[in-house]
Order: sequence, then structure tokens, then C-alpha cells
Amino acid sequence: MVNSRIPGFYGWPLAERRRVLTELTGLQLTALDPGALELSLADKLIENVVGVLGIPLGLGLNFRMNGTDYLVPLAVEEPSVVAAFSHASKLVRMGGGFEAEADPPHMIGQLQLSPNSEQEANRVEHKLRSASERITRAAKTAAERMEKRGGGYQSHCVRYIRDTRGGPPIVVLHIVIHVANAMGANLVNHVAETLTPLVEKIAGIPVGLKILSNFSDLRLARATARVPISALGGVQIAHKVVEADRFAYLDPYRAATHNKGFMNGVDAVALATGNDWRAIEAGCHAYAARDGQYRSLTRWTVQDDHLMGHTEIPMAVGTVGGITRSHPTIALAHQILGIRDAQVLAALFAASGLAQNLAAIKALSTEGIQRGHMSLHARQLALAAGAQLDEVEAVVHKTIESGPVSARRVEEALTQHRHGRKLA
Ligand code: MEV
Repeated sequence: MVNSRIPGFYGWPLAERRRVLTELTGLQLTALDPGALELSLADKLIENVVGVLGIPLGLGLNFRMNGTDYLVPLAVEEPSVVAAFSHASKLVRMGGGFEAEADPPHMIGQLQLSPNSEQEANRVEHKLRSASERITRAAKTAAERMEKRGGGYQSHCVRYIRDTRGGPPIVVLHIVIHVANAMGANLVNHVAETLTPLVEKIAGIPVGLKILSNFSDLRLARATARVPISALGGVQIAHKVVEADRFAYLDPYRAATHNKGFMNGVDAVALATGNDWRAIEAGCHAYAARDGQYRSLTRWTVQDDHLMGHTEIPMAVGTVGGITRSHPTIALAHQILGIRDAQVLAALFAASGLAQNLAAIKALSTEGIQRGHMSLHARQLALAAGAQLDEVEAVVHKTIESGPVSARRVEEALTQHRHGRKLA
């Protein structure tokens, strides 16, 4: 098991960070170099390829989940996300780390039937319900290849959806498939398409759409964080975090921003591990609005001497399939993470969202995020301007003290700092 607590990592030169990562994991890191995804491979992944886009890949540190440490690869272009992840994970670690789990990977496929009238809708619904055994047999056969991996057909149901605007009802057949360690889109779409001729024969009308649902609410992941109030900086901060969370629960304008911060963590892991972040986003936002109002994806409370956080989100992610093996950087990110079981990965996604949310609302409830953002930005500019490690803090301080951060002002601060040292 790796130790995800690596004091000083942040301040080391990049080459040193890579050396330590290799030492800790035994992995060669060439797949993290620019150009690791060759144009010839990129050209096979999507259409009209003209190039490859580089996104920084950072390591989320201090992360512990269910008693195990993980080095969490985070692919993201936004400064502060990786630092915030590591900071919050350190706080949660002081309370024992995240506790997290996920449901079995049950994905839903939908087959849409659009009758012309309510009478026809009733007939279609009745016929589908009466043909339950035939549908089960056909779905089992269509999903057979998943059985040797512990998955396959689970169940189906018929849904009757009224149109409150006056149109005829829509009848939908849901097929539920256990997709093992895959995200499962391809398999579920295959099953839905394979069933179509049979369903059309039974219903007596054509099937419309046949596609998975990204509202994967049979595949929920949950995470809990427990932060000692002493580690947080006092009970007042804890109450401010709870109040920030209550704001997001009650107000959709705030909930959208709150959940965006939460998804900073989820999406960065999704991108690094080659999971479909658009599908994850769609599912999480649909879940956030499940009671009719769009709300926060988290709940924070104070219990005894702890700030307690909880989240529950749909999480359709895989450790196999898609580009998890074919993209060299993504394949390496999976090796760094060391998770083969998609349920464990789903749990880690939920915990990552909670970490990111904690860091954001703690900062917003105290000093605001601009100061942190600006000092990170200044630190990066100082290193780029050639500041030595023992000069960085002083240069950052000097820059921030004297106004807005820019490359020119960081260079000036570095020159002044060196001049001051010479005179001293
Ligand atoms: C910025 O990427 C995310 C935040 O806006 C999240 C939040 O407001 O909770 C800081």
C-alpha cells in the first residue's frame, strides 16, 4: 500500500516529483510525457483529427478511503483544484479518511414506445407486461457475454409516462444490466438494440429511441467525511461550512456553483481515468434535482467534535473498456491509482467530489478563494521566473502585497527580493 502523505511534494521541482512517484509505485512514467498519445492513435479515436490537446495531470495527495491510501491522478486545467483536493483530504485524513461505497454496477437501457392515444398506450403497456418472460429470455441472451464477468441481465420494468401538456402517454421499457467493471454504455445499447424487433412485435408499434439512461440511479456511490473540528480551525468554521451547505440546499443559484466545485474533483478523476465526464455530469445533475428542485449534492453537519460530510451520487464509471487501456496516459493513471473494481472507483469519485466541495466551501466561508488562487498563481509565476525554492514564499508575499498578480510584477518582486538579500 502506498502512503499518500508526501510532505513537501508541492514545492519540489517536477523532475523530483516524478522521481518520487516512480520510487513509490515502481512505474515508468514515459506515458506522462507530452506526445504520449500519438497522432496516429488519436486519429483512430475520433473523427477529423488535427492534433492532440495536453491537459496537466497532477497528483491528489493525503487521500485515504476505507483505510487505504491512494495517489489520485487529477487531470484539470484550473489552478487550485489539486491543492484544494490535497488540503481537504488531509483534513479528512485526520478524522480517519473517507468512508465510501457504491452499489453494484446496474445500468439502465431504455426502449421508447410512442402510442397515438391513451387507449393504445394502455394496450401496449398490457402487452409488454404480459410478455415479461419472453423479454427476460431475450435480454438474458443479449447480455450473455457479461455473465462470465459476473454481470448480465438483472431485471426489466414497464414505465407509463403521462404527458401533462395533453399529448398521449409514452410507454418505456427499462432493461437493467449488471455491467461488471465497465461503464457499460456499449453493452446496454447493444442489448436495447437487440431487443428492439421482439419488443416491436409484442407492442405492435415501432420502438423509438433505444439507448442507455445516464440517470444511473441504480448505481449510486456514497462517501462520508469526518473532520475533527480542531483540525478545521474551530467550531465557528464548522458552522460556517454547514451554513454554506444549507444555502446550496435551498437555493438553486448557489447549488449550481456548489455542485460545480464538487464536480471539479469528480471530473478531474474522470478525465484522468478515461471515464465519460459528460455522462457523469448529466447523471449527477439529474440526481441533484430528483425532488423537483435542483439542490446541493452534499450534506454537512456538526456532530460532537466533528464536521461530518456526506454525499450520494449516481456514478457510472469503469476500470475497463473505452479508452482505459488504449490511451497510454490513462492506462498509467489507472496503474497509479491501482483500482480494478469499478465499485471501488465509483466510491473514490464520490469521495473526491466531497473533498473538493469541503475545500471550496471552507475557503469561501473564511478567507474567500481569491487569495488562495492568487498566491498559487503567483507561486507558479515565481517558479517560472526562476525563483529558487527558498525564495518563492517571499516573492509571492511581496507580489500579493503590492497589488494584482502578473508575470511582470512577479519578476519585479524577485529582482527586488534578490537585491534586498544582497544588501542585507
Ligand atoms: C470554482 O471552480 C469552484 C467554486 O466556485 C465552488 C464553490 O463556489 O463552492 C469555488
